Amino acid sequence: MTKSSPLLLRALAGEPVERPPVWFMRQAGRYLPEYRAVRSEHTFLEMCHTPELATEVTLQPLRRYPLDAGIVFSDILLPLESMGADLAYIPGTGPVIHNPIRSAADVAALKPFDPVRDLPSPMETIRMCIDGANVPILGFAGAPFTMACYMIEGQGSRNWPETKRLMFSQPKVFQALLDRLADAVGDHLQAQIDAGAAGVQLFDTWAGALSPDDFRRWALPAARRALQRVSGAPRIFFTKDTAPFLPWLKEVEADAYAIDWRVNIAHAREVLGDVPLQGNLDPQALHAPHEEIRRRVRQIIERAGPKGHVFNLGHGITPDIDPEAVGAAIDEVCAWSWT
Ligand code: CP3
Repeated sequence: MTKSSPLLLRALAGEPVERPPVWFMRQAGRYLPEYRAVRSEHTFLEMCHTPELATEVTLQPLRRYPLDAGIVFSDILLPLESMGADLAYIPGTGPVIHNPIRSAADVAALKPFDPVRDLPSPMETIRMCIDGANVPILGFAGAPFTMACYMIEGQGSRNWPETKRLMFSQPKVFQALLDRLADAVGDHLQAQIDAGAAGVQLFDTWAGALSPDDFRRWALPAARRALQRVSGAPRIFFTKDTAPFLPWLKEVEADAYAIDWRVNIAHAREVLGDVPLQGNLDPQALHAPHEEIRRRVRQIIERAGPKGHVFNLGHGITPDIDPEAVGAAIDEVCAWSWT
């Protein structure tokens, strides 16, 4: 990699950089008035399945802020639709699957998933964004365990009771589902890289709902299986509420690890060793006065050190955040200099 390579790729390669690159999870979303303007005319699924609309909202935050990466506008649950899930996004409730998986027969009935044939819009969006942006565009997918949670539960949940009922009472069925999902999301990530994505992120948002033993038995090997199908660009693994699992995270064999705000990033460095990290500002800290946001940004950069750090939040921007606060945080990262 040379000095003219994108900052994001240099940081993800573990090279020293003059300041950390910065992008935010959910940087395209309802906190932006320009997003709400597009959204008021279309359903969320229409936006995801129409590359022109998805490209427009992917580029919106890149026009407003000096970000170092875009992330393709899409959703982790779209492959489930192709596999047979009757998926809807209901305002106030979030995603709902009307025909959840509860048995071996349900798993056997899942349709094979070929991303290029069944879900072309994210790849087409990536191609269109590359033409319209001068920073790398990231692809993404949901990790097998997190996907299984939605498939089995049928909607978001605090305790995931149906997921755990199936996991504990029909482990072979649960494993078969994870295997199917791992291959599907692995192929989906590879298709996005083949379309030009400069890197990909695998979101295991709900892995923190597991005990340490169950994390190591189920979520971790399934995420590794998915990532083993992927090559040609850096692979970032995101988990949340997994501070107690840090010692095993590297068994996933990702290229970088995205951590939430419940861990001191200096501690994550100590435990994980010399591997690129991404994070980890509390998204709700964006409600703080701008001076306090800026102080926290500097503290995270200092703690993470000059090598292998991508600045991000510990989870996505929520719709109630002021775009000016997002701007202050990004501005403070861009003002940093390690020299
Ligand atoms: O900017 C980006 O980060 C890229 C786009 C993106 C979306 N979802 C758009 C979206 C990404 C990377 C995701 C990932 C995703 N989707 C995850 C993993 C990360 C996380 O946030 O935990 C999960 C669990 C989902 C599933 C999902 N999609 C939920 C739970 C919801 C409803 C919650 C909410 O915020 O409303 C969605 C809908 C969704 N995905 C929206 C956006 C912008 C809001 C839809 C709307 O405009 O009404």
